Amino acid sequence: MFRSSSGAFSRALKQASGRSQGVAEQQVLPSAAVTTQASQAKGSDAAAATTAQQQQQSGRRSWKKPALIGLGAAAATAGITSLAIAEEEADHGLHAPEFPWSHSGFFSAYDHASIRRGHQVYSQVCAACHSVEQIHYRNLVGVAYTEEEVKEMAAETEVTDGPNEEGEQFERPGRLSDPLPRPYPNEEAARYANGGAYPPDLSLITKARHNGQNYVFSLLTGYREPPAGVTVREGLYYNPYFPGGAIAMPKMLADGGTEYDDEEIPATESQQAKDISTFLAWAAEPEHDERKLSGVKWLFILSLVWATAIYYKRWKWSPIKSRRIIVDAVN
Ligand code: HEC
Repeated sequence: MFRSSSGAFSRALKQASGRSQGVAEQQVLPSAAVTTQASQAKGSDAAAATTAQQQQQSGRRSWKKPALIGLGAAAATAGITSLAIAEEEADHGLHAPEFPWSHSGFFSAYDHASIRRGHQVYSQVCAACHSVEQIHYRNLVGVAYTEEEVKEMAAETEVTDGPNEEGEQFERPGRLSDPLPRPYPNEEAARYANGGAYPPDLSLITKARHNGQNYVFSLLTGYREPPAGVTVREGLYYNPYFPGGAIAMPKMLADGGTEYDDEEIPATESQQAKDISTFLAWAAEPEHDERKLSGVKWLFILSLVWATAIYYKRWKWSPIKSRRIIVDAVN
């Protein structure tokens, strides 16, 4: 099941990368495109003028001139519109395509095996730079791991606690109530280690970015060589999905980059990207499954209430609707 869904993902990914390449080329040549469009427009106007002159000389009224001007204007408008789209995409980043998430259906829950693998991607790859402040170890219990597994995982970390009876801070093994460890003590340290860029907290990232999980997936798998004519400053990496196209995060995912505890699932780049996106979607919206389930319950109960209301209304109204009033005006 996971394999087939990852197949759909890689297909979608291929389409997406094809598209981004096209747009990237458009971005490189905006001014060249304008000149050609403009000169085409000018050219057709000039042609129109010549035809008109010839026709006026022969004494006929011309319908061709307005038609040609119209065509020229249409071509110029099309040029300007595609230029505007290219510029928009350069400023705001390429728009990520819609991916077939197994949880996006009306009645579908998260794929919890994918959340589990996503947590493994997070802790083996992303946790080196990004925190997920809102997630505590206990949140993983019953979602991605059993209580024993999470306790064991938490106990492997060292947490500073205190003060003890001597007034000192001390180290102790982590507990279920602790948050997942943060890679840096504060923003300054994080910026210092990342060449001035701040790796944002990922707990709510799928809510904090337009097109959330599709964006995260596309961003992680969207690294490529900059197209000809585009130079990216040292320390930045070309990624068409990131607004501006140059991101301070290097490409982090590669085939086999994560060791999944489920050995059945090959840790390809797109599989890891899908799993971490699902994990981050869960982190931002942990109530998702419960919300959908309670929606189904509410719809079921409301439909019963609705049916009862209709039945009751018809029952109450039946004597009124079926009575007959006879007016005997003579006697
Ligand atoms: C080597 C450190 C490092 C690692 C490891 C890392 N990132 Fe980043 N990440 C960064 C930095 C730095 C930025 C800020 C980029 C910028 O502002 O140009 C960032 C930004 C991001 C953003 C926000 C982009 C935006 O729109 O602002 C997301 C999402 C993200 N990373 C996800 C991940 C995921 C998922 C992983 C794990 C697969 C990961 N990162 C691993 C350093 C890292």
